[in-house]
Amino acid sequence: MFQFNPSKGMLALAAMNLITGTTANLKTCASSSGFSCQSSSTTPTCCFNYPGGAFLQTQFWDTDPVTGPSNSWTIHGLWPDNCDGTYEANCDSSRAYTNITEILQAQDRSDLVSYMDKYWVDINGDNESFWEHEWGKHGTCINTIEPSCYTGYESQEEVGDYFQKTVDLFKGLDTYKALAAAGITPSNSKTYTAGAIKAALAKVHDGAEVYISCSSGKLNQVWYFFNVQGNIIDGKYEAVDSLTSSACSKSGIKYVPKN
Ligand SMILES: *[C@@H]1O[C@H](CO)[C@@H](O)[C@H](O)[C@H]1NC(C)=O
Ligand SMILES: *[C@@H]1O[C@H](CO)[C@@H](O)[C@H](O)[C@H]1NC(C)=O
Repeated sequence: MFQFNPSKGMLALAAMNLITGTTANLKTCASSSGFSCQSSSTTPTCCFNYPGGAFLQTQFWDTDPVTGPSNSWTIHGLWPDNCDGTYEANCDSSRAYTNITEILQAQDRSDLVSYMDKYWVDINGDNESFWEHEWGKHGTCINTIEPSCYTGYESQEEVGDYFQKTVDLFKGLDTYKALAAAGITPSNSKTYTAGAIKAALAKVHDGAEVYISCSSGKLNQVWYFFNVQGNIIDGKYEAVDSLTSSACSKSGIKYVPKN
């Protein structure tokens, strides 16, 4: 048990965080702060995402080569979008870290790293590089997790928050299960229509349209769009329609097995 001892203050605080499940130390946002992309405000603040106000949780179905479990899609990333299909990229080279695994481990997030090694995998087997790319290109553009938005900021705290949040969103968007529930399962012979795929995915996205993309007629990506009230870690997510036209033909879409 912890006994009161000023020198152990940090330890006691860390223990409290574990108990309450609190991970983010971002400044609190008023529940009245507006949803991103739904307000005329053009001022980025720690509680208002701007200009990147739409957030895309993007996923892969990689079959050549195969990545990830055969009964699950894998994570591509969490990307801010300027509410119109355009986006900013590589926003802060000073925070484009090349030690993501070490950062997460130093934050006691080894379980997160294990999960990412299974579900956030690189097509060439270089997961660390893929995570560096996603963080540097997209994560550094999210204004509500800039270091100045934290109380008692600890170095690279926002990096851990970004990866954890992306994983949490992914866990709530089980594309494999959503498709299977509509009878859309991987097959070497069957084909599916874009309408059926989109209808199945809308069911897990509050009825909002989900972006799908195909390569050589094979379904290989889905993107779920959100607007956010407050910061992207503690804020409220609202499913919204895709801002980008899907890149699959209307019918004859293949969804091939991962083996
Ligand atoms: C990761 O890299 C940054 C920038 O070089 C450095 O400041 C930080 O201490 C490193 N973190 C760990 C846990 O090695
Ligand atoms: C990285 O990704 C591959 C799959 O592409 C996976 O098999 C591997 O375990 C992952 N982790 C490491 C540390 O390479």
